[in-house]
Amino acid sequence: MSIGIDDISFYSSGMYLPLATLAEHNGEDPDKYRIGLGQDRMGVPSQDEDIVTLAANAGRPLVTDDNRNSISTILFATESSIDQSKAAGVYVHRLLQLGSNCRVVELKQACYSATAALQMACGIVARKPDAQVMVIASDIARYGFGTPGEATQGCGAVAFIVKSNPRLLSIHAESGCYSEDVMDFWRPNYRDTALVDGKYSTIIYLKALRQSWKNYEEAGGLAFDQFSRFCYHLPFGKMAEKAHRKLAVTNGVSMTDELLEQQIGASLHYSRQIGNSYSAALYIGIASLLENDAEDLSGKHIGLFSYGSGCVGEFFSATVQPGYREHARRQAHVDMLEQRQELDYPSYVVHFGRSVPADGGRHDFAEEAAGYYRLAGVHDHKRIYTEIGD
Ligand code: HMG
Repeated sequence: MSIGIDDISFYSSGMYLPLATLAEHNGEDPDKYRIGLGQDRMGVPSQDEDIVTLAANAGRPLVTDDNRNSISTILFATESSIDQSKAAGVYVHRLLQLGSNCRVVELKQACYSATAALQMACGIVARKPDAQVMVIASDIARYGFGTPGEATQGCGAVAFIVKSNPRLLSIHAESGCYSEDVMDFWRPNYRDTALVDGKYSTIIYLKALRQSWKNYEEAGGLAFDQFSRFCYHLPFGKMAEKAHRKLAVTNGVSMTDELLEQQIGASLHYSRQIGNSYSAALYIGIASLLENDAEDLSGKHIGLFSYGSGCVGEFFSATVQPGYREHARRQAHVDMLEQRQELDYPSYVVHFGRSVPADGGRHDFAEEAAGYYRLAGVHDHKRIYTEIGD
């Protein structure tokens, strides 16, 4: 029995900021962001969009009357959590009208947590082959105006169903992990924006990749040349390029620009448009690969690297399932990204600068969200979520 990803869907906010606009305001050459970071746009949430509405929009296409009551677990990964106690997935469970015999829990370890969720989901399915687990990763990446990290902000959510005999990807049992207590990026509970030692974080990312790969090899994983494609955690596209070149060198392979484009190019399309989506980023990269690679990848192996600052890394692998293209959601994803509204710099400052009021009063938010769900307001410290049009 193979276990893995059966269906995948992602969502970003209804608005975006072109990074050329940000470059102009910051007095930077636009090529620094476009080429130097490999990014074109960042997703910007409205006040009535948060990790719950992004997640519910991502998950909605995956739920049908056939599986509504078969989804036995929701694992919600995030590092921009909205509550210290209640799992954000509980709101999503209601918004998606899933059956009440379902366990829901939230996981955290920076951008890595969705991979922990995937591995746990595979474990649940291994024990109970009829089970279906919905993994959701949803984040809003905020560093603050005028910081070096500003151009790498963004937001997005991904949802995928893990089950036996999956239609998209079977996940291999072998994996390699690396953990080390480092302060490359963190967000204390009292802050809305992350703190980051940017250059150090890129060094630690690459170290975690090398060490995870070593552990993957020791675990009996595939060799570098057995992989057709690779997907990396995507804080920005150029990071994946650096990572792939590093892994190639580690394996004695000389990486040409053509090979680089062939092996990771298709995985970068969507994140160029939405920016860092933290825990969702690797999985949006996987969707991008499956939906945009010109070659039929059926039966091919892909290498996957997940990284979460702090830090935990994991290298693991998967095989693309025959017929996967019939189940990919390319058109819906392309349409969603194209329908977003472009912001100018002052509007970006207004939208990205807002935070949720913490005074315990009654606050109703203007209807600005795209998609199906919105955060209608906060009443007595309770977030009120509604379906748009209700
Ligand atoms: P910076 O210091 O402003 O940028 O911030 P820079 O000066 O290093 O330039 C960036 C690149 O653009 C360089 O390329 C320049 O040469 C190039 P590189 O040398 O690195 O290959 N460049 C140009 N290219 C073409 N034309 C030009 C031009 N000008 C310059 N005119 C930094 C960069 C990444 C540090 C910053 O954006 C940052 O702090 N970002 C946030 C941290 C981050 O994303 N870290 C990534 C690794 S950690 C991670 O992935 C985890 C994370 O997702 C969170 C989590 O796990 O929780 C962040």
